[in-house]
Amino acid sequence: MNENHAKLCPSPDWATFLHAEVMPAVAGERDLGDELIEVGPGPGASTDWLRHRVRRLVAVELERSAADALTDRFAGTNVEVINQDATALSFPASSFDSAASFTMLHHVPTARLQNQLLAELLRVLRPGGVLIGSDSLASDALHRFHDGDTYNPVEPASLLTRLQTLGYERITITVDYGMRFVAHKPDSSVTELADRRRAEPVGRQQRCLRAGG
Ligand SMILES: C[S@@+](CC[C@H](N)C(=O)[O-])C[C@H]1O[C@@H](n2cnc3c(N)ncnc32)[C@H](O)[C@@H]1O
Repeated sequence: MNENHAKLCPSPDWATFLHAEVMPAVAGERDLGDELIEVGPGPGASTDWLRHRVRRLVAVELERSAADALTDRFAGTNVEVINQDATALSFPASSFDSAASFTMLHHVPTARLQNQLLAELLRVLRPGGVLIGSDSLASDALHRFHDGDTYNPVEPASLLTRLQTLGYERITITVDYGMRFVAHKPDSSVTELADRRRAEPVGRQQRCLRAGG
């Protein structure tokens, strides 16, 4: 992260903004289950709000120094910090009830890698699990803020189709001063059917499709 982020992201003003405006709007009364994975926690403003909503929070941070600082900050709490690239998660499928990505997608340098990260979150979510998040919208001021840093903002309409294409369902995207999103992994009856279909010989799949089954 550049100097601008180093000043803003750990500041009380940023935490107040996230905790008062962004996180209640996206997570509010939503049930986040027992186990949540957060990607791109940075200095931990989003983590510090989320951790009170679940029994266990796993925070996956790419930068070693940020992961080390976060480990110290949340020592002895329900937060476990992993220094890892969230585009290639080491967790088995269906490990978490919920996933969170706050103010981080625009730090992933390409659309392909953003999609890979969203696909990884879908994989590690349990059937019926929920992805929540927020991100900044493209602007000249935001571009200047990212001088010398990765700047790859997500266009909200494209996020909708990208999430759908990856296999998320029940997707809500809200756009005002920023973008907030909620999307679900299909529940087990849908995913089991899709898995069974994939395992079936192609000829049978085609007969089922013709028969509408
Ligand atoms: C702007 S900070 C957001 C911090 C926090 N979520 C918040 O909203 O205040 C974005 C963080 O995402 C991390 N990040 C970027 N790409 C990542 C990746 N592929 N895997 C894990 N973390 C990543 C960066 O290192 C940085 O700490």
